[in-house]
Amino acid sequence: MKEGAWISSKKVYFQEPIKFWEEQAKELDWDTMWKLPYKEKLPYFKWFVGGKLNASMNCLDRHLETRLNKTALIWVPEPTKEKPIKITYKELHEKVNKFANLLKRLKVKKGDVVSIYLPMIPEVIISMLACSRIGAIHSVVFSAFSEEALQSRMKDGKSKVLITADGYFRKGKKVDLLKKVKKAVKGTKVKKVIVVPRLEKKVPKGFINYTKEIRKEKSFCKPKIMKSEDTLFILYTSGTTGKPKGVMRDTGGYLTQASTTSKFNFNLHENDIMWCTADVGWITGHTYSCYGPLSLGATLLIYEGSPDFPNFGRWWKIIQENKVNVFYTAPTAIRLFMKFGEKYLKKYNLNSLKILGTVGEPIDEDAWNWYFKKIGKSKLPLIDTWWQTETGANVINSLPGVGPFIPSYAGKPFPGIKMAIVNGKGNKVRVGKPGHLVQLSPFAPGMLQGVFRNKKRYKETYWSKFKNKYDTSDGAFMDKDGNIRLTGRIDDVIKVAGHRLSTAEMENALDDDDCVNEAAIVSVPDKIRGEVPVAFVVLEKGKPSDVLKKKLVNDVRVRIGPIASLKEIYFVDDLPKTRSGKIMRRILKSLLIGEKIKSTTTLVNPECVKKIEDGL
Ligand code: WT7
Repeated sequence: MKEGAWISSKKVYFQEPIKFWEEQAKELDWDTMWKLPYKEKLPYFKWFVGGKLNASMNCLDRHLETRLNKTALIWVPEPTKEKPIKITYKELHEKVNKFANLLKRLKVKKGDVVSIYLPMIPEVIISMLACSRIGAIHSVVFSAFSEEALQSRMKDGKSKVLITADGYFRKGKKVDLLKKVKKAVKGTKVKKVIVVPRLEKKVPKGFINYTKEIRKEKSFCKPKIMKSEDTLFILYTSGTTGKPKGVMRDTGGYLTQASTTSKFNFNLHENDIMWCTADVGWITGHTYSCYGPLSLGATLLIYEGSPDFPNFGRWWKIIQENKVNVFYTAPTAIRLFMKFGEKYLKKYNLNSLKILGTVGEPIDEDAWNWYFKKIGKSKLPLIDTWWQTETGANVINSLPGVGPFIPSYAGKPFPGIKMAIVNGKGNKVRVGKPGHLVQLSPFAPGMLQGVFRNKKRYKETYWSKFKNKYDTSDGAFMDKDGNIRLTGRIDDVIKVAGHRLSTAEMENALDDDDCVNEAAIVSVPDKIRGEVPVAFVVLEKGKPSDVLKKKLVNDVRVRIGPIASLKEIYFVDDLPKTRSGKIMRRILKSLLIGEKIKSTTTLVNPECVKKIEDGL
């Protein structure tokens, strides 16, 4: 689209969402054009019905003519003695095609789920695109997740193939992945495990050596042409109940929104280098470290390691050395740098930057101002972006050149997306009044298409509270100009350092300990990580002790992963409950942060509140 055209044809963009998205979708390469742009039979809806395309072709093949030797991917390893590796579009195309052929040789077919448990190395991008080339559904599991988390996701997806690595570098140390993998595959349907070497360990017997096998493959694999609504990937995310759900994504709609938002939100042109610091294990990494920038023919950068290795100057060094133009990160990282980073910052030249972005949790004014002043030198557009695993791509944001750029306000709905703030009955609330953030029809093309193998859960989670409105589970309010400010999750999901964790999942991990009768998790504010989980535990047997505390903290870390680190455990005699048996976590939270308790009349055991308060 021509520059500025979106302002002059405002009408199309804001009042006719379907037309807007159609216009955007035309920027992709389609094998067959769609017959119907949008079809809705709630809770389901489809985009570009009748259209056919392949995602890997849109990220690779279509760039070969004009961008053959252009860098598609820059990979920065953590050890400073290893040099960054640049992979051109030609090379990436070849690697993806070879990998796709290997998957085919292993009998992976269209619609099969392939699990990917890889760190931030080029093969994570290569394997996702290889799956999409042959129509296999990828299911990436964050490499810092535990073996149990990996196992439950492989079981739910019924994957037969797992792609992993022997390990990776983190904070200067070698992290082993194979130990976890060996345990995780037991009891699943996984028959084949492909191991990418990173630490040059020996590939265990029975596992497939990637380096050895990939050499045998041809460098072209005929792409599988997919229907627009065919599933491109699933990605598990936490919800209110203990079990993570596999959020399903289509091909045509998702790619359209991933590409369009990359272009408009980050003003991403083909000669730009984009660095989104999120791990590919999260949706942010899928959309802005893979599909979005590659579909536009830009260059993406991924970094293997930790922001503080060997010191807090590492990220700025990466930006300087690789001339990064678009930098997208989370408020937690900004707060970390505010605390530890200033003295390192001075050493580096960040003049290559042109756009800054943030995502994952609300950005407070202090962090916004620091990011804008210190990194953006008070002149770069700072784009806050609100969205979710379920929405697939950015939904509410500021736009470069347009705004609104108000610290702590996420901004306005992206063109072509309708958001509203409603009360419990589903009616719009007045300006300034907080309520539930919902999305209205026509639903954006990147939106989830269901929960994998669980129609009931899809319906109940997103479509049961409000009729014909998608429930985001977030609270928000709107100012008179239509700018939206988020107030946090309304359900029992907490965001720790921008990562989404379910309180129920952590509680289950505690409940499974023989000593524990019952547990409740709530979050408390944290200066760096936004919020952190703490537990209230009622013991079944044994006595409270530091040893027991340590064991329970470890139980949760082992079950979920190190991001689920309990800050504190309080042993109590009883937990406040309603007559129907629901634990009132909100009361526990109020006690912790010293908020006045409004009422305890709905509780069956109001006396326990005072006892807990005294104990605290
Ligand atoms: C939840 C979704 C978006 C991709 C990464 C997170 C919170 C996300 C913002 C923001 C305020 C935000 C919401 C949302 N959230 N971005 N800019 N301002 N809150 O995806 O892990 O599915 O988490 O993150 O509460 O519902 P996710």
